[in-house]
Amino acid sequence: MVMDGVPTVIRGTGSYAPSRVLRNEDLTGIVDTTDEWIVTRTGIRERRIAAEDEATSDLAVPAARAAMEMAGLGPEDIDAVIVCTLTPDMLFPSTACLVQSLLGLRRGIPAFDVDAACSGFVYGLESARGLLAASRKYRNVLLVGAEKLSAILDWTDRSTCVLFGDGAGAIVLTRGEEGPGGHILATDLGSDGVNSGLIHMPAGGSRVPASPHSLEGRQHFLKMNGREVFKLAVRAMVASAERVLEEAGVSPQDLVGIIPHQANIRIIESVAQYLKLPLTLFPNNVHLYGNTSAASVPLAFDEAIRAGKLSQPGPLLLIAFGAGLTWGSTLLHWEPLS
Ligand code: UT7
Repeated sequence: MVMDGVPTVIRGTGSYAPSRVLRNEDLTGIVDTTDEWIVTRTGIRERRIAAEDEATSDLAVPAARAAMEMAGLGPEDIDAVIVCTLTPDMLFPSTACLVQSLLGLRRGIPAFDVDAACSGFVYGLESARGLLAASRKYRNVLLVGAEKLSAILDWTDRSTCVLFGDGAGAIVLTRGEEGPGGHILATDLGSDGVNSGLIHMPAGGSRVPASPHSLEGRQHFLKMNGREVFKLAVRAMVASAERVLEEAGVSPQDLVGIIPHQANIRIIESVAQYLKLPLTLFPNNVHLYGNTSAASVPLAFDEAIRAGKLSQPGPLLLIAFGAGLTWGSTLLHWEPLS
C-alpha cells in the first residue's frame, strides 16, 4: 500500500468551532447582502465567530486534545507539533509554540507553523510525514489547522466578510503500517506566486508595516479577487487530484471519499463534475462554517469520521487550494477509525 518513504498513518482526528453562530440573516444588518445571494453563490448559511479573547491557539487546543484522545495518546507521546494557519496569535513566536505550552507537550520537541493559507493542512501533512521519515526520534506528530479569520475580515466589504469563519481541526500522524486510520499513499503540492495578489493581506508584514496610513487604508484586512480565484481553484484542484491519483495508480472511480477545501459549494460541485464523480462522495460542511482556510479540510474530515460518513475502507483523497496561490492533494488508504 505504501508508495514511498516511511509508512505513516493518521490515527486520530479532532475539531473545534467557537460557540457563537453568525447567520446570513445577521450579516444583512452589517453589509448590503442577502441570505439568498450568499446561499446561491456559496452554499454558506452560517459561520462561527470566535470570542474577542479567543485566539487561534485557543481554537487549536480543544481540536488537538480530541485528536490525541482518539489516537489514545497523551501529551507526553507527541514528538513534534505543527500548526497550519494564516491567522497566528501573533507574527512570532509561532502558534505551534503556544499550543505546545497550552497542551503541556514535552518541552524540547520541535514546534513550528506552516503558512500555505487554505492549502496549509495538506502542506502540513507532508511536513509531518517528512519529520517522521527524517528520523526515528519522531513517532507521533500533532498537526493542527486553526484559524481566527474573523480577526482579519473587513466587515465593510461584502465580497469577503460573508465567506469566512473561525474553527480548528487536528490529526495525529504516526509511524506505522497496519491498523485503522488514514495511510498516506501519495501527495501532490504546488504553488503559483505570480498570482499572489489575488488573495492577500497587504499590511502588517515587512512590506507595509502598521502605520496610521495602513490603518486608514484598511490594509490589515483580507482582500480577494473572488471571480479569478474561483476559476483557478477548480482547475488547480482537479489537476492536483488527477496527478496524485495517477502517481498512485488509483482510478477516481475507486475513491471511497473526497474531503475538499470548504470554500464554496459551487467549487466542490465543479470539481466533482470534472472528476466525473457524484457529489455524495464529497462530505461537506461549508453551509455550517463557511471557509475556515487551513482548518477547513481537517474540520470536514473529523466531522465526516464522527458522523460515520467514512465507513468504507479504500482510497480517500484530501484536496485544497488557497492563497499563494497554493494547492495540494493527499491520497490516503482509509481503514475506518471507528
Ligand atoms: O479559500 C481560498 C480560496 N477562495 C475561494 O475559493 C473563493 C473563490 N471565489 C468564490 O467563491 C466566488 O467567486 C465568490 C463567492 C467570492 C463570488 O461569487 P461570484 O459568483 O464569482 O460573484 P462575483 O464576484 O462575480 O459578483 C457578482 C455580483 C457583483 O455585482 P455586479 O458587479 O455583478 O453588479 C458583486 O458586487 O455580486 C455582487 N456581490 C454581492 N452581492 C450581494 C459580491 N458580494 C456580494 C454579497 N451580497 N455578499
